[in-house]
Amino acid sequence: MVWYFMEDIKKKITEALNFRHACKEFNGEKIPNEDLKFILESGRLSPSSFGMQPWKFIVVKDQKLKEQLLEASLGQIQVTTCSDLVVICARTDIKPSDDFFKKVMENRTLPEEKQERIKKSLDEKDPQKMLVYCQQQAFIALGNMMQVSAFLGVDSCPMGGFDAETYSKILGLDPHIHPTLLMPLGYRKNKQSDKERLAYDDVVETR
Ligand SMILES: Cc1cc2nc3c(=O)[nH]c(=O)nc-3n(C[C@H](O)[C@H](O)[C@H](O)COP(=O)(O)O)c2cc1C
Repeated sequence: MVWYFMEDIKKKITEALNFRHACKEFNGEKIPNEDLKFILESGRLSPSSFGMQPWKFIVVKDQKLKEQLLEASLGQIQVTTCSDLVVICARTDIKPSDDFFKKVMENRTLPEEKQERIKKSLDEKDPQKMLVYCQQQAFIALGNMMQVSAFLGVDSCPMGGFDAETYSKILGLDPHIHPTLLMPLGYRKNKQSDKERLAYDDVVETR
């Protein structure tokens, strides 16, 4: 019984992994709010270094706003044809003196010694290193959200091709919120492209 159950789960996971592709054009159909929330929850629950959760997910629903963002997205129409455009931002206000750091730490039960180690490590980072560090966490959230979307039958496209500065201006973001990735969500208009991947043995090495 348990064996059958596991096989079923594996089959569903494989189906979702194959269903997910970089969707180039959506059909404009809206995602139920409940599904959108479920997807965003998987971003919220993602792991992050020291558990700092240095991200913010901005959901653009407004069509006019999406159109305003098109040029800064190198004209990629995923942005305007999707149901919801999620702008995954890295937030860099995670130094011990920042309010956000305090907020994250408020609900944590960490030994004093560990807290001090976290503070020292974050304090030492210069702005550029801090940005890269926070952006790395944002990628993890993107991966989780895309995979959960696929489970729900929702298409997505991971996108790094956009002008972050223009996005910041159009969305009126605070300087510590950095647009890092786009994740338009919706339903595909066209058949998905074939999966082009290297063979298992090309990418896995066992020692
Ligand atoms: C970080 C990242 C940035 C990407 N940026 C874009 C993008 O700007 N536009 C686009 O159409 N696809 C983008 N892609 C999609 C990739 O081209 C695509 O995932 C890859 O070719 C594999 O195809 P598949 O996702 O359909 O399996 C990006 C993917 C990643 C992971």
